[in-house]
Amino acid sequence: MDVSVSTDQKVAIVTGGAGGIGEATARMLAQRGARVALADLRADAAEAAAERLQAEGLSAAPFTVDIADHASVQAMTENVLSRWGRIDILINNAGVESSKPFLEIKLQDFERVMRINVTGAWLCCQAVIPVMLRQGGGSIVNISSVAGQRGGGLLGTAAYSTSKGAVIALTKALAREFAKSGIRVNAVAPSLTMTDFAQRQLEKLAPNTLDRVIALTPIGRVAQPDEIAAVIAFLASDEASFVVGQVYNADGGNAM
Ligand SMILES: NC(=O)c1ccc[n+]([C@@H]2O[C@H](COP(=O)([O-])OP(=O)(O)OC[C@H]3O[C@@H](n4cnc5c(N)ncnc54)[C@H](O)[C@@H]3O)[C@@H](O)[C@H]2O)c1
Repeated sequence: MDVSVSTDQKVAIVTGGAGGIGEATARMLAQRGARVALADLRADAAEAAAERLQAEGLSAAPFTVDIADHASVQAMTENVLSRWGRIDILINNAGVESSKPFLEIKLQDFERVMRINVTGAWLCCQAVIPVMLRQGGGSIVNISSVAGQRGGGLLGTAAYSTSKGAVIALTKALAREFAKSGIRVNAVAPSLTMTDFAQRQLEKLAPNTLDRVIALTPIGRVAQPDEIAAVIAFLASDEASFVVGQVYNADGGNAM
């Protein structure tokens, strides 16, 4: 992949950085010169991902965090600051899926999805924005989904779509509030991307679901994590300096 969009010398936190879109994003930011914190609930997986990046000569370190927990997010933020002294980029990528028809979703399932996908991003923003304000700016990219715009399609469900719609609203509210302070907030809305997350979704659905998704996608295939990471890395970089409060669809034409 092209490495022309620089994030040189910057410090980035990628939540959910232990795999999938998060690891691909962390790798791309690091290839472009950033020092990257892989912040994930799965400590072993975050460590393994950091080792993969380090083996490629990239600057990355694992940090354990439960983004749904205020104290854990604060501690992770402090740990990143202790290690690298600043935070320039926050990628709110960690998220969970939910694949049940609306009437079968228990309140606790809904609240779990909202707690991680929405409250998690909220808590990370509340922890990191004061640091960015002190530094005079920064860039935040929240990972939504086409499900947050269209209501889900074949794979979507009410809980997941609701959470990803809220991520878009959070993005726009924070973008307006902090643009004059030099903090840009944007979102990326991917369609089905081949990660463990997508695999888990597909296993719960009819065997021909993948073929149906591909048939409904104008580009005629699903995404690879690198293709989403490239959009995230662009929005995170100074190349996107005039892009504020936007939702970039990386969806092969899915939500047109
Ligand atoms: N893969 C897709 O098809 C797709 C499509 C649209 C949007 N997305 C979104 O992209 C993001 C990344 O998805 P992915 O496919 O790479 O998923 P993934 O399941 O491969 O990775 C998600 C990561 O988040 C971590 N995580 C989960 N809960 C956490 C918590 N409470 N605290 C910290 N870390 C936690 C997991 O351990 C995992 O490493 C998610 O927000 C997802 O909703 C994915």
